[in-house]
Amino acid sequence: MTYFSRPPKHQAIATFHWAILGLGKIARKFAEDLQRTDDAKLVAVGSRSLERARAFADDFRAEHAAGSYAAAFDGPRVDAVYIATPHTGHRDLTLMCLRRGIPVLCEKPLGLNYQEVEEMVAVARKTGTYLMEALWSVFIPSIVEMKSLVDAGGIGTLESLRADFGFRGQPREDFDRDRLYNPALGGGALLDIGIYPVWLAQFLFGAPESLHATARRTDLGADVDTQVTLRYPGGRLAHCYSTLLGETKTDALLLGSEAELHIHGRFHHAQGFSVLRDRDTPPENHYQSFEGHGYQFEAAAVMEDVRAGRTESARWSLHDSLLLHRTLTDVRKQIGVMYPGE
Ligand SMILES: NC(=O)c1ccc[n+]([C@@H]2O[C@H](COP(=O)([O-])OP(=O)(O)OC[C@H]3O[C@@H](n4cnc5c(N)ncnc54)[C@H](OP(=O)(O)O)[C@@H]3O)[C@@H](O)[C@H]2O)c1
Repeated sequence: MTYFSRPPKHQAIATFHWAILGLGKIARKFAEDLQRTDDAKLVAVGSRSLERARAFADDFRAEHAAGSYAAAFDGPRVDAVYIATPHTGHRDLTLMCLRRGIPVLCEKPLGLNYQEVEEMVAVARKTGTYLMEALWSVFIPSIVEMKSLVDAGGIGTLESLRADFGFRGQPREDFDRDRLYNPALGGGALLDIGIYPVWLAQFLFGAPESLHATARRTDLGADVDTQVTLRYPGGRLAHCYSTLLGETKTDALLLGSEAELHIHGRFHHAQGFSVLRDRDTPPENHYQSFEGHGYQFEAAAVMEDVRAGRTESARWSLHDSLLLHRTLTDVRKQIGVMYPGE
């Protein structure tokens, strides 16, 4: 006997409807990249200010502008929501959306600490609602190509990794809104940018056996210059550096037993990498350029997952986020960065 199952309702989505909550810098870039994404439309935006919501909605021709996050869902159907508030808002907004059955793409870091991420993952699983941390690097074409090359043994055995991310973070005059330096907003280099080198280490090596971290902190306790060394089986090391004190190359170097691989800066949305086999041979350059900021690839991945009725990504799973946040929380314990309420 043949059984036919009804396709999940998601498969019926023709034009994919997005909402965005928290209309700051990254929300704008994401909205710009949505315009490059086939079959995607921004239909609703939520802000703490109706005026800001209306201005943003006008810019991107979204039909529904709401002066609160919850009211963003009072308009047209929403197939997924992108949460783009400071880190400290991620947990509550994600839980609100998951409990309403709305698929969520939440900015990194998914939660402020491991405990928050654990709770978010538990609610996603309990409600059977899609959740993915917006680790957009996973979906960048050059990164995808680099990962397959490394996994296929293209540089031999991966022995060591060095990656950095630094920029001169200017403190804001309104400290209340200063998500880089204000501990009440999850300020610090590690959660804002240090997450990327640590992510790359996990992406390539998996779970660390141990770690050692040290940092310089502001008087209020935000880390501004942070070094993390992760150790893997066989004694292999990943050296991860992040800083708010100045611009760094923001690139990555992988040392393999047969070749070196350099991921061009900024490595987390690289448009190319080079493989150096020996000093006398020119490097093999791999380029995959793209237009836009690069957020269109994660958006397309979410749309594909939701349309297929999946509740998490196979490419950046909830397990991957849990592991990453266990590491970041362990790093914070060593460098003494605590946020209010922890
Ligand atoms: N993937 C990436 O490449 C990338 C790049 C940058 C940042 N991020 C992540 O995205 C998140 C937002 O970063 P951003 O640079 O876009 O920040 P931002 O420019 O400060 O914008 C954040 C927005 O969140 C809302 N918000 C809610 N509570 C707030 C509060 N207490 N203080 C300030 N704003 C508050 C505001 O929007 P309304 O006033 O409209 O409510 C604000 O405009 C962070 O978690 C960050 O880690 C990711």
